[in-house]
Amino acid sequence: MNLIKARFLYFATLTLTLLLFASCDGDEEGANPGNTDDSIILGFSQIGAESAWRTYNSLSVKEAAEEAGIQLLFENAEQKQAKQIKAIRSFIVYQVDVIAFVPIVADGWDNVLTEAKDAGIPVLVTDRKINTADETLYAGFIGTDSIREGREAALFLQKKFASSERANPVRIVEISGTEGASCVIGRAEGFREIIESDGSFEIVYSFSGDFLKSKGYEIMHSILDKISDIDVLYSHNDGMTLGAIEAMKERGIRPGSDIVIVTIDAEQAAIDALRRGEVNCVIECNPRTGPVIMDLARKLAEGETIRRLIHVEEEVFTEWDDLDAIEPRGY
Ligand code: AHR
Repeated sequence: MNLIKARFLYFATLTLTLLLFASCDGDEEGANPGNTDDSIILGFSQIGAESAWRTYNSLSVKEAAEEAGIQLLFENAEQKQAKQIKAIRSFIVYQVDVIAFVPIVADGWDNVLTEAKDAGIPVLVTDRKINTADETLYAGFIGTDSIREGREAALFLQKKFASSERANPVRIVEISGTEGASCVIGRAEGFREIIESDGSFEIVYSFSGDFLKSKGYEIMHSILDKISDIDVLYSHNDGMTLGAIEAMKERGIRPGSDIVIVTIDAEQAAIDALRRGEVNCVIECNPRTGPVIMDLARKLAEGETIRRLIHVEEEVFTEWDDLDAIEPRGY
């Protein structure tokens, strides 16, 4: 949008927006009513702080905005889609230059994104994807390739259980993340694509732990009450894995030996568990997206088109690697 017009609207809507932001209880940054320069204003709706991964992802966005000289209006939705929609609406009223958001679930964004489109504000989707029949509602996506993450988890298990001495079938328990989130759908889909075509594996139980460590702990206890002979835990994030490991230890089960564990994110704590032999495979989900988001936001604010799909680089760490060579993670 024209920057002069944006600044005019910025002051014209100031009173209303101050009221709006006062009613939000997430943290806010960069709302600077005194700003008269031409810097870009980015409204960012984050989903919450459910994991160490998420906290680091928020930090990456905040640090990169500061570094790039972009004014950031940062809203934390505390795991509620309704709060994200409210935040996006407030960004539209505010006439920000660009909106970026992490969609907590894939469905249900068309109305608010149509409002953003009608207001002429480009939207960047990040980390998780959306389902929409109208691809013009957002400019592009930057984030993880969750189908690939699921495939990597399955490929590790195929190698791990390649020997003829394996249990047949290999019995897998899955603890997944927030229902309806694109990364959960992708991690389940990529995993099943390989596991189900193999024939030597069976998913005996699958339950959502909402990406929370406390739920990983509770679910693992309740699984162990119901099911014996578990060969594998496939967990959609490290937080839930660490909770599940605690539960296993309380039952006298040796994580990583009695039960093979594959986990996603690559937090420092999971890498430490891999080094201790309590986890067998860690698949990285890269949270360091802030700098690329700022670069894309600047391009969008200047009216450029951006690539529709950018998947970030991600590694896989296994028990067979040189574990001393893994760099400190930072999260
Ligand atoms: O969307 C990415 C996922 O959300 C991460 O794997 C998880 O830890 C986070 O909370």
